[in-house]
Amino acid sequence: PRYFALIPAAGIGARIGGSTPKQYVSIAGKAMLRHVLDTFSDTVAISHTFVVVSAEDGYINDIMAEPPDHHAGITVLRVGGPTRQLSVLNGLHAAREWIGDDDWVLVHDAARPGLNDSLVDKLIQTLKDDEVGGLLAVPVVDTLKRMDESGRVENTVAREHLWAAQTPQMFPYGLLKKALEQAAAVTDEAGAIEALGLKPKLVTGHACNFKVTLPEDVALAELYLKGLV
Ligand code: CTP
Ligand code: MG
Repeated sequence: PRYFALIPAAGIGARIGGSTPKQYVSIAGKAMLRHVLDTFSDTVAISHTFVVVSAEDGYINDIMAEPPDHHAGITVLRVGGPTRQLSVLNGLHAAREWIGDDDWVLVHDAARPGLNDSLVDKLIQTLKDDEVGGLLAVPVVDTLKRMDESGRVENTVAREHLWAAQTPQMFPYGLLKKALEQAAAVTDEAGAIEALGLKPKLVTGHACNFKVTLPEDVALAELYLKGLV
C-alpha cells in the first residue's frame, strides 16, 4: 500500500479572526499551509499530497506558485465543504481515481504547522501493519472540570486515560471513506471510525503539533517553527 496526505484547508478561521483565512496566515516566514505542504513533501514515505480548499479560494495559487523543493507532488482540490468532515469526504471522493481502497490516507489539519517529518514517520511506522489505523495524540495534562449550567464545577473528570487528539489521522482509504459517509457529525476522522465500532490506535504526538486556533496561538507556533522551543 502507498501513503497519501490529505490536507483540509477550506475553513474560514472564525476564532482567530482577521481578514486572511487562518491557513494562509504567515508564521516564521511562510503560510501555515505551506509549512504543512513542505513537511509532507519532505517525508519520503508520502507518495502524493491532496489539499482541499474552497471553490472560491483566492490564496492557494500563490502558495503553489513556488513548488516545495522535494516536490513529491501536490494536487489542489477545490471541493471544500461547510464542515471539516465534508471537506475531507469531498476530498476523498475527488481523489478516488488515484488512491486504492487499501492505500493509507493521512489526514492533517492545515492549522497544525508544527508537524515534522519524524512525527509523520513515527505514525506510519507504528501503524503500517495495523488493522484499523490511528492518530497522533498527547496525554491531557490539565485537571479537567465539567461545568454546570450556572458556570460552576459539576465535577472533576478523571484525567487518567484521557488524550487530546492531534493529526495526522491515518486510515485505509476505503475504510475512511465508508466511515465518513456513514457517520453523523464528527470532529475528526477517528470519531467516524469509532462510530463503526473500531478502535483507532493512539500514537504519542508532540506539543509542537498543536492546532493554531486563537490569535494568541500564532506567537507560540512561531517559536516552535523557529526552533526556539
Ligand atoms: N476545515 C475545512 N473545511 C471546513 C472547516 C475546516 O477544510 N469547512 C479545515 C481548516 O481549514 C483547518 C482544519 O479543517 O485546516 C481544522 O479546522 P479548524 O481549526 O476548526 O479551522 P477553521 O474551521 O478554519 O477555524 P474556526 O473553527 O475557528 O472557524
Ligand atoms: Mg472549525
